[in-house]
Amino acid sequence: KKWFAVIGDPIAQSKSPEMHNAWYEQEKVDATYIPVHVKPENLQQAVASFKLLGASGWNVTIPHKQTIIPFLDELDELAKKMGAVNTVVRTADGKLKGYNTDGPGFVKSLEAAIGTSKRTEPVLLIGAGGAARGIAFALQMVGYKNITIANRTVEKAQRIVDEMNAGVAITIQQAEENLDTYRIFIQTTPAGMSTGDFALPFSLEKFPTGAIAADIVYNPLMTPFLQAAEQKGATIVNGLGMFVHQGAIAYEHWLGNYPNTNAMIARLTEQLG
Ligand code: ATR
Repeated sequence: KKWFAVIGDPIAQSKSPEMHNAWYEQEKVDATYIPVHVKPENLQQAVASFKLLGASGWNVTIPHKQTIIPFLDELDELAKKMGAVNTVVRTADGKLKGYNTDGPGFVKSLEAAIGTSKRTEPVLLIGAGGAARGIAFALQMVGYKNITIANRTVEKAQRIVDEMNAGVAITIQQAEENLDTYRIFIQTTPAGMSTGDFALPFSLEKFPTGAIAADIVYNPLMTPFLQAAEQKGATIVNGLGMFVHQGAIAYEHWLGNYPNTNAMIARLTEQLG
């Protein structure tokens, strides 16, 4: 029997075990996936133990995504660029290879809703944290040509633009004033999270009609940003798809095929709804 895991601190809240175990059942894979609470000071030992005990792979969540890198043997291109890993694969020759499927998971989720024909349209990415950075690189990698990043701290947006060697960094105020010049909006701040303490960091007065609005938050499924965008006739993409697709890409690295994401999104939507 193969085994997989997710490591983090905290870890009890993770929906990954339920998701992956349900996929194993559906796909008739003889495997199990367990949550493991790993404190930062125990990370190196945990990696060594997983290797010794024969884990086929595992996911990595907060706070280990960066700090696990020195304990891995290889990184794929995007993980290297990101300096962050959310998926570890034990390769056929026993090496540990790190991937980052968060940004690509977002792109899969977005394009499941809007297709691949809109890669030349102007994108406004709101926020410039780790999530925004991963999404920006992943969008660029599949060929999005026109990315603007708006952030409260504009220097952080500029840093991502410099790393991408493409795009434009603007302030939140500039974004508010020119909102109608974009077609695809991606909200990456914790605004609207049920546990969060701040509202939307910008005004949606000039939000255009019939645009595309995506949020990375999935608890709640309908954030204030998505609600406002929907009122203006936008196509809505909630954050659950990103979560499911990042897991599906990890699954594919481990087991070779892409699992059923639509059924999983429906199942988790029912739980969260
Ligand atoms: P993550 O790695 O999950 O993306 P992060 O690195 O903490 O998280 O980034 C959070 C994002 O939310 C940042 O863009 C942050 O803006 P700053 O870079 O200016 O800090 C944004 N953010 C957090 N709190 C905010 C607030 N009260 N108003 C506006 N933006 C906020």
